[in-house]
Amino acid sequence: MYSIRLSGIELRDPFVIASGIVPDVPEYMARVCQEFSPSAITTKTFTLNPLEPHKPPTLVKISDGCFLNAIGLGNPGIKVMGSMEVPCNLFVSVGGSSLEEIVETAIIGEGKASLIEINLSSPNRRGYGADTAKFVREIVKEVKGKVRKPIFVKLGPWDNVVDLAGKALEGGADGLTLINTVKGMKLDVDAGKPVLSYGTGGVSGRCIHPLAVRVIGEVYSEYSAQIIGTGGVFSWEDAMELFLAGATAVGVGSAILERGFEVLNELRVGLTAFMEEKGINLSDVIGMAVRK
Ligand SMILES: Cc1cc2nc3c(=O)[nH]c(=O)nc-3n(C[C@H](O)[C@H](O)[C@H](O)COP(=O)(O)O)c2cc1C
Repeated sequence: MYSIRLSGIELRDPFVIASGIVPDVPEYMARVCQEFSPSAITTKTFTLNPLEPHKPPTLVKISDGCFLNAIGLGNPGIKVMGSMEVPCNLFVSVGGSSLEEIVETAIIGEGKASLIEINLSSPNRRGYGADTAKFVREIVKEVKGKVRKPIFVKLGPWDNVVDLAGKALEGGADGLTLINTVKGMKLDVDAGKPVLSYGTGGVSGRCIHPLAVRVIGEVYSEYSAQIIGTGGVFSWEDAMELFLAGATAVGVGSAILERGFEVLNELRVGLTAFMEEKGINLSDVIGMAVRK
């Protein structure tokens, strides 16, 4: 009833773990796979070479269900993937500060991946987010020419997101992941300075859910593309809004930070009960609210 095909990949349910939530430690990933059976884990974004994270504090809770983080794409470099044996679908997130770096990272990442997600939208390191998204068509075209696995492009809730999504699809992207965190800032009123060491960070969780619904709806109504909808999904109702707006699968991030991996099962149970009660399949509702 709610198994899905995402660009040819069979997923037993539509809930995947969003990028940056599971640390890239193989034993930890394997335990998450075994205990919580996510239909896929999206890795934290890998770059070609190791990148140091920003100094702590890098993550702060700003209100119920809302977080601000600036880890700054810190990661051990894509080559660690070579020795990673993880018993579930891996969506390998790749990034870089140049077209060449992104292509090379994707080629190495493809080995263990069911899908490659090109992250062009991190707000947390200069030269890696919107700066690279300008070249999205060229980047996707190059990666598509070298990598056989499905390619998704992750974009942020920018004013030109519909335009950039179109360029990603023109370049040959198989789908889009919408949305990444939104650039924000939290100030410490005693110290009179930002709470995070980087100054600004990316807002995630409940605070960005309506933005995700809007962006997914606008992009789906324009292109009917396959979309992994991500942003503030804490309940099956939140997920249903993303499906109705056009998401085929849903990425869960902040809800796991707040409530643990058990939230995945709550989402599955809630969604199944709703669909059984209504007598509908997931495929019936995808994009229903925004179809022209
Ligand atoms: C602590 C943290 C780290 C993240 N790291 C990444 C990352 O490395 N790459 C990426 O594409 N998105 C990253 N994200 C963004 C999430 O994948 C997701 O798009 C965003 O948090 C919105 O979903 P949510 O509201 O369910 O958290 C991160 C989010 C958080 C909270």
